[in-house]
Amino acid sequence: MLANRTSIISPSVTIGISTKVNELLRQGIEVTSLSIGEPDFYTPDKVKDAGIQAIKDNKTKYDAASGLLELKRAIIDKLYRDNKVTYDLDEIVISSGAKHAITNALLAIMNPNDEIIIPKPYWTSYPEMVKLLGGTPVFVNTQEANSFKLQPEELRALVSDKTKAIFITNPSNPTGAVYTKNELEAIVQICIEKRIYILADEIYEKIIFSDDFTSIASLSDLAKDITITINGLSKSASMTGWRLGYTASNKKLAKAMSAIQGHLVSHPSTISQWAAVEAINHCEEDTQNMVETYHKRRDAVIKMFEEINELSIIRPEGAFYTFINISQLRPYFENSSSLSIDVCNKLLDEYRLAVVPGIAFGLDDYIRITYAADMETIVTGIHKIKQFIQDLQS
Ligand SMILES: Cc1ncc(COP(=O)(O)O)c(C=O)c1O
Repeated sequence: MLANRTSIISPSVTIGISTKVNELLRQGIEVTSLSIGEPDFYTPDKVKDAGIQAIKDNKTKYDAASGLLELKRAIIDKLYRDNKVTYDLDEIVISSGAKHAITNALLAIMNPNDEIIIPKPYWTSYPEMVKLLGGTPVFVNTQEANSFKLQPEELRALVSDKTKAIFITNPSNPTGAVYTKNELEAIVQICIEKRIYILADEIYEKIIFSDDFTSIASLSDLAKDITITINGLSKSASMTGWRLGYTASNKKLAKAMSAIQGHLVSHPSTISQWAAVEAINHCEEDTQNMVETYHKRRDAVIKMFEEINELSIIRPEGAFYTFINISQLRPYFENSSSLSIDVCNKLLDEYRLAVVPGIAFGLDDYIRITYAADMETIVTGIHKIKQFIQDLQS
């Protein structure tokens, strides 16, 4: 009785893990969790106050489908201030999280069977979203030696006359890799030449450990015209539950996305939008404090993994994840149909440590841990990984 599309997508592995962790916690079993892709900080007080004030002021009615005027102005100022790109009001569409912004973008550009290029490892939802909306995900195998950053020749080899767009996640979830300006220019050049859209997922833009972030749309007017920038407040202002994201794109695309959103959800919560105005205009210092903490944890995590010879990590330059190569553990899991799932299950069942299998991001020889957790949890978690390896070897 269900629609065919429901059978072509797989349930989210990450949500599956949290469900299992919650079940264990409910049974009173202690679990160390390094699995969640969510800041471990609370939303800044002034943002919460702005939300409360919006409710008190009865700012609780329907508003424009593409988003609140005041928030669009704040986003335009931010895009100019941080990214050196100029946008007009009718080029911004505010949505219920970056996830929803990506959905709007795919609905606006993709016809049935259009191909969307997705570099591996990818953020877990991209392929399922593409399939759900009738498109075909086409995966690029990037190389660990390049920190899994897409190389121009890898892209060129996969572009076909059905290619509609490519996802570029910068900084990356799950690797934390950050592209340089030169690296982006080479990729963007091909997209301009081949006339394909760039879905530039820049949700982790603020969480970087150098001053080296380049927004794709800032590269040139042509780059800006083919790019749909995806961003939001979940990570930078620790506002995951408020569900606030947005796109910046050319007018034609923005008009289409606004019409789609208008019919599907009207617009994101008005209250969340008022809170987001405060977050974008006044929370730079709060974000910087969070980033400093992530930075310290990142350095500590790298140090701890240097002591584990059996595993190697890709040095994260942004976001709050570490992607860990577990291929050396394969001999201990000879008949395994998925190394990363078996390793994660063993870690959870026997060591009470939750981490995410690399297969959720398209690569089975890896696991992902997050350092959006306090130092004690991080140290306990990595200690459990060490113990797990020692036990395998004994
Ligand atoms: C790369 C990436 N894009 C988009 C999202 C979705 O963010 P939001 O909470 O704004 O929907 C996430 C969340 O984990 C993410 O990691």
